[in-house]
Amino acid sequence: MDERLGIELDKDLDLTIPTLGEAKHPSPLNLSTVLNDGIADYTPDDVRILADPTGNNLELKFEMAGPRQLNYFKGQDVAAGIVTCGGLCPGMNNVIRGLVHQLWHAYGVRRILGFRYGFRGMTIDSPDRPLILTPDDVHNIHLMGGTMLGSSRGHQKPEGMVDTLYKQGINMLFCIGGDGTMRGTRKIWEDVSRRGAEIAVIGVPKTIDNDLPFIERTFGFDTAVSIASDAIKAAHVEACGAPNGIGLVRLMGRHSGYISASATLASREANLCLVPEMQFDLEGERGILEYLRWRIRKRGHAVVVVAEGAGQKHLEATGKRDASGNVKLADIGVFLRDTIKAELKDEGISIKYIDPSYIIRAAAANAADAIFCGQLAEEAVHAAMAGKTGTVVGLWLSNFTHVPLVAATTGRKHISADSALWRNVVDTTGQPKLLIN
Ligand code: F6P
Repeated sequence: MDERLGIELDKDLDLTIPTLGEAKHPSPLNLSTVLNDGIADYTPDDVRILADPTGNNLELKFEMAGPRQLNYFKGQDVAAGIVTCGGLCPGMNNVIRGLVHQLWHAYGVRRILGFRYGFRGMTIDSPDRPLILTPDDVHNIHLMGGTMLGSSRGHQKPEGMVDTLYKQGINMLFCIGGDGTMRGTRKIWEDVSRRGAEIAVIGVPKTIDNDLPFIERTFGFDTAVSIASDAIKAAHVEACGAPNGIGLVRLMGRHSGYISASATLASREANLCLVPEMQFDLEGERGILEYLRWRIRKRGHAVVVVAEGAGQKHLEATGKRDASGNVKLADIGVFLRDTIKAELKDEGISIKYIDPSYIIRAAAANAADAIFCGQLAEEAVHAAMAGKTGTVVGLWLSNFTHVPLVAATTGRKHISADSALWRNVVDTTGQPKLLIN
């Protein structure tokens, strides 16, 4: 795994962005056509950014996002659809609002539909009618967490959803979601392409887990980390408030530990951070119990952060899956709480367990996410207007990019043991590099 990318880089990866056809309608944005003249200008279609920051794969490049001088669509001919899917995430409303405003004010689009409750609301026999969206309908929604459209997990038949797009006359679809949603969006795009339909299908990357490949940051992550960091600070206060106090915080993060690692760095208070990517033993010289015993004797308090997907080998598998097909994990937080309590009884510890659970994702977007959501929405609209399709709007090396849905649905981003991020975590917590005997 490449430690900076967080994924295995396939040298044959095709980063070409599919398009609906020739873009020949002059943009209504009135931007400068002279590059670098100090006035905001159009992004030429051939500007690229290196995909591999190591410089090892110079041929792999992402297309840059941005407004194009020539568009495939004219605003007055557009009917746009918006759908929000999967678990809630801070910023969903900001993205909906951003899309509506950009479509309406910048490009003059007057027909915008919001599908209800995720892909479920796009099925042909959905009981929920889509909402008609105008700037008036969305003017306050960014102040609230969640999504005004509602969301859901689960697969739906792509053919039925594309039939709905035909029925509603939609020629531009924005799917806001995480990895499961992007896989569903890819299927919709594949069906649209098979039918030769002129529908731009664009993904907007949402997930507090920040685990989408080739996308530096997904929206909602920053807010989730900030709230998670408050939970860790609270655990520290509790741990210091009792003799031999231990604060234990369990955070979301099924397969990737980015929330736990980043909240650990933000709070500076955790002494042990456990993520799904790094194995750990309980017992033995290098096990976490011995480390906690040492820490308690030395400092009289300790804070432990554990991601929900960490240490699953110590638990009995539930054998269950959720509506999206994700394995339902056993509860590592409760298990660790009970194990530490029992095993460190002789140290006279007092353990305080905090699971902020959905609190970290039901909140409204913080300032950083609010800015980011607005930018993602604008770039998504520019992409769709230019006739880009089968594409997710991404962020790479601090630039907004177009990532083919095919690339964004191959694999998942993980923390590498060799990454600077993990080195920072180990340095900050003071935990041993290896927690395996
Ligand atoms: O995928 C985002 C996420 O917040 C994960 O971190 C978590 O495992 C999951 O959603 C839980 O969501 P739900 O309970 O809605 O399935």
